[in-house]
Amino acid sequence: MRGIEALAFLAAIGAAHGQSTVGFGPYFSLGPTQSWIREANTTLVLPEAPSPQKDRLALWPGMGTSGGDLIQALAVSFSDPNANCGASSGQWCTWASTLEGTQLGGTEVPASAGDKLTMHYKYNDSTGKYDQTVSINGKVVSTLSTSSGEAQGWGTAVECQDDACHSTVAAHQYLETTIILNAEDSTFGNTLAINEATSSGLTTSDNGKTWTVSTININSHTYNV
Ligand SMILES: *[C@@H]1O[C@H](CO)[C@@H](O)[C@H](O)[C@H]1NC(C)=O
Ligand SMILES: *[C@@H]1O[C@H](CO)[C@@H](O)[C@H](O)[C@H]1NC(C)=O
Repeated sequence: MRGIEALAFLAAIGAAHGQSTVGFGPYFSLGPTQSWIREANTTLVLPEAPSPQKDRLALWPGMGTSGGDLIQALAVSFSDPNANCGASSGQWCTWASTLEGTQLGGTEVPASAGDKLTMHYKYNDSTGKYDQTVSINGKVVSTLSTSSGEAQGWGTAVECQDDACHSTVAAHQYLETTIILNAEDSTFGNTLAINEATSSGLTTSDNGKTWTVSTININSHTYNV
């Protein structure tokens, strides 16, 4: 498969190798922080895949890093789900992934609407890498560790490529999102940027080291790219 090239959040990096079209929709985006992100955890409740499925529609919570990487566990609706991860028609493929020039990835597995994908990123002090895990309904299915520098922000994305840029993406939710900084940054909340999304509110109870938002609601979006 071709990699899911992406906009690193906040800054547009047109990384279109081969795609004729790339488009972005709703987002909930934080950063950059004056500190750096040690750990981030969220649970994406998968919506129905677009119908018909067209290459390629991706949902991802990503972290842009000082190393220029994009840590981005993915849920992707492909035109041919079976060819990509052995999924059935109507299913998604999900896996741990980092975009660092090329798209690195862990095992790709099928996932269905209603599944809860927990995407966990944690800086590992002994290796200097970010360890990613993707779990489906609590069971780890895909992992990846990458040397990526330090994460500066966290944000969700709805990304279309090629024919998927003529489709509608269903509304979906991210639950129990927690972002833990290396040090207190009381200004982090002020960096929030939202497009076609709402949330239950971003809060910190320790002067800006740990940030939580219990529900992020991403609106349905129709591309007209
Ligand atoms: C990540 O979030 C899920 C869902 O809230 C939770 O079950 C899990 O324990 C969390 N994992 C870590 C490592 O924080
Ligand atoms: C850090 O990475 C090493 C090597 O992959 C692993 O054995 C260790 O469990 C990790 N540490 C933590 C705290 O997860």
